[in-house]
Amino acid sequence: MIGVMCFFFLTQVGCWEQVSKEWFEQMKWQPAVQAFELNQYDHQIQITNLSPPDGTLPVGWGGVPDLASMSLSEQDAVPNPNAATFESLARGKEYFDVNCATCHGPTGGGNGPIAAPNGPIQGVLPIGPGSPLGFSLAPGLTDGHIYTTISLGRGRMPSYRRIPPDARWDVVNYIRDLNGQGG
Ligand code: HEC
Repeated sequence: MIGVMCFFFLTQVGCWEQVSKEWFEQMKWQPAVQAFELNQYDHQIQITNLSPPDGTLPVGWGGVPDLASMSLSEQDAVPNPNAATFESLARGKEYFDVNCATCHGPTGGGNGPIAAPNGPIQGVLPIGPGSPLGFSLAPGLTDGHIYTTISLGRGRMPSYRRIPPDARWDVVNYIRDLNGQGG
């Protein structure tokens, strides 16, 4: 009898995924925000579903504009709080090289290794010199516009909200520098 019970126990445990999911929850079935997935609960806070308690701010998130609830013209008008110091430009270059150059190219010309015709990403726009198209869009864009593009994505470009908000402004400064705009 015990042998029979053991037999049943072992085989049933082996097949326990077929047992009702409602009765026996497993850890792997749980709500999770996957890498690069938009957090539906909060666009500004990167990967946590937990909102900070009232009156507190996560470290480094002081004064972060709530872009998602702004109109396009309000987004474009958000002022750049970071002066284009050497530190800012160096940090901006670091983030640009890691996050943007793959598509936009090392100088922003829109000719990065994964942008067409070099690679699969279609329609990458030139935001710096060296473009085969012979122009750069960046001088015609406000700082707030570029910052919003990084933060929320735009058109076919995904969001780069993994870059800390403060460092996004450094990327903006670096793009100005690439374009000879006195960054
Ligand atoms: C995966 C490829 C890819 C990466 C990486 C990428 N972009 Fe883009 N970017 C695009 C594409 C595609 C467009 C054109 C978007 C559209 O209008 O559909 C674009 C457009 C832009 C524009 C122009 C927006 C406008 O209003 O015309 C800016 C500015 C820009 N990107 C900045 C950046 C910055 C800064 C980074 C790095 C943080 C970055 N991009 C990373 C693909 C990329």
